[in-house]
Amino acid sequence: MIRAAVPEDAEPIATGLIAVELTDGQGNEEKCPDIHYVRSACDETTYRQAVVEDAQCISVLASQVFMDTYAARGVNRDLAIEVTSTLSIESFLKRLELKTVELFVAEHAGYMVGLIDLDLESTCPDPAVTGMEVLRLYVQRPFHRRGIGCALMRLAEVRTRRASHQAIWLTAWAGNLAARDFYRSLGYKDVGSTPYFFEGKAYENRILVKQMSAGVA
Ligand SMILES: CC(C)(COP(=O)(O)OP(=O)(O)OC[C@H]1O[C@@H](n2cnc3c(N)ncnc32)[C@H](O)[C@@H]1OP(=O)(O)O)[C@@H](O)C(=O)NCCC(=O)NCCS
Repeated sequence: MIRAAVPEDAEPIATGLIAVELTDGQGNEEKCPDIHYVRSACDETTYRQAVVEDAQCISVLASQVFMDTYAARGVNRDLAIEVTSTLSIESFLKRLELKTVELFVAEHAGYMVGLIDLDLESTCPDPAVTGMEVLRLYVQRPFHRRGIGCALMRLAEVRTRRASHQAIWLTAWAGNLAARDFYRSLGYKDVGSTPYFFEGKAYENRILVKQMSAGVA
């Protein structure tokens, strides 16, 4: 199992965060040794790259946070299809095998509490924007406002720079005001809207973008 460890001389890369190197627990660098991992300075949350064995937990966590966020009026067929197909174990197993996809998870006391799903090669609906997409970002409600979403986004920004992308982008449902506030607080700019078609219905999504400057996050 890959673990993130905090070196003695770790340099802060953002408020409340510490840059860490990926090791196998014995000090040896594992897969993707060029990645910086982050760990909250104020609690025991750790962050690591997801592996295929995580697919079940990722699927359950994603489904739970998705329903908690979007099923305020109950369950309908569209929501049920999203959970049982797009967020299924099989779907994440496929994503974890793709070279163009990277997933990272946040863990607290041995339990998965958040995840970020990155796509290195997807196309932004705004043709003026090229860069890495944050396809999903989910933090369980009891762990909101502890800096976990921010840490996962910082990790994504480090990966974006490492992949030599100039920008990081995502789409957020226009009605998800909390998420839009969250991204605004991290410096993401709203550059327009794009419809998200699902089961024949169109939903307005906002396109949010952050340009990457040179240097470390
Ligand atoms: C959006 C989400 C990822 C934020 O994660 P989080 O771990 O709670 O966010 P953080 O603790 O890192 O917040 C960082 C800053 O963002 C802003 N922020 C976060 N949540 C906010 C909210 N609900 N309302 C307003 N601002 C918010 C604040 O400035 C916050 O700093 P502060 O707590 O010191 O004031 C999380 O709420 C979530 O998973 N929501 C459900 C799924 C979702 O909407 N995902 C995004 C889909 S596009």
